[in-house]
Amino acid sequence: MREKYLVFGSPVIEQEEIDEVVSTLQSGWLGTGPKVAMFEEEFRNYVGANYAIAVASCTAGLHLSVVALGIKEGDEVIVPALTFAATANAVIHSGAKPVLVDVDRSTMTLNYDDVKRKITSRTKAIIPVHFAGRAADMDELQAISHEYGIHIINDAAHAIETEYHGKKIGAFADITSYSFYVTKNLTTAEGGMIVTDNEAIANRLKIYALHGMSKDAWKRFSDDGYKHYQVVFPGFKYNMTDIQASLGIHQLRKVDRLHKRREEVWNIYNDRLKHLPLILPAPQDPNSRHGLHLYIILVDDTKTNITRDQLITELHRRNIGTGVHYLGLNWHPFYQQEFGYKIGDFPNSDFISERTLSIPFSAKLTDQDVEDVIEALEDIFKAPGALK
Ligand SMILES: Cc1ncc(COP(=O)(O)O)c(C=O)c1O
Repeated sequence: MREKYLVFGSPVIEQEEIDEVVSTLQSGWLGTGPKVAMFEEEFRNYVGANYAIAVASCTAGLHLSVVALGIKEGDEVIVPALTFAATANAVIHSGAKPVLVDVDRSTMTLNYDDVKRKITSRTKAIIPVHFAGRAADMDELQAISHEYGIHIINDAAHAIETEYHGKKIGAFADITSYSFYVTKNLTTAEGGMIVTDNEAIANRLKIYALHGMSKDAWKRFSDDGYKHYQVVFPGFKYNMTDIQASLGIHQLRKVDRLHKRREEVWNIYNDRLKHLPLILPAPQDPNSRHGLHLYIILVDDTKTNITRDQLITELHRRNIGTGVHYLGLNWHPFYQQEFGYKIGDFPNSDFISERTLSIPFSAKLTDQDVEDVIEALEDIFKAPGALK
């Protein structure tokens, strides 16, 4: 058994990130400034979008997106049941109602039959989650968007590198929000980025992200001399700092190298775990580039007596950390009490919620770490009575 606890989703931080943060600290400009502008420009180029606005988190980006599209009380926004709370909470904070839909059992992305069933005259947007890094079917989504006149806001928390038919997924949505939380493929500790190709939306997003102050208000204390700003909207405080952007600039430059390492780990897991009583990730879609953010396994209860929660405990006892992505939103008391959802409403999402766990999956994993995870799983399923 390994001696040191293997933390789930540990970031790769190298000397260039450390040097950049130190140089920012020494520069005296710690808030939103030139490093944020540089990070926005490089990120914009990486994903091929016209505009990129760095924000405090993906959650902040989703909230801004909903508000910037004019969505408000009385409106509805379609959100997958299987997602992190932030996807739905961003809608709730705009005053609109999140309408949950089921996902596909194997790809874990939106189920379009259910999407169509849930569209009403109040539906203003759909927020697809590109689950674990796998692109949702954007042809389907765009067809729905055109037919019903509904906006698409990508929740791309898992999907920085994700492409669909050769283009980054932002190309298929009105606005796309990315996460740079510590466990993500690119981290700024906390942070996010919203991208769009629409100039008017970009201007609104930028203004709303900083108190609703007129454009470039962050420059008011710069050496160009003090400039008055004007408040044009009751905005939010969702800006990113130069300290965070210092990490982001270098994380972005290595994002494809780290993706390559995760692909190696992905292939090793696929090969070595296939004989265990687990349902492994769906094969990758040859027309898309998978962001490879999470390696999710489902406990196959037709083959084992060990439950998901027991498996988490047993892995923990063997010093292996795990995550759960996710218990569907209909499993949480708030959405049950507020909107009347219950367990059982979404057969595929519920199937996944009951069986899912994410094993360590990061470019930081050594070959030995990967071996330790595999051996721990093999060991657990070797126990007497483990198999049916
Ligand atoms: C699907 C999904 N959406 C949104 C978020 C929110 O991201 P952030 O922590 O950057 O606000 C997360 C974070 O884990 C997520 O997994």
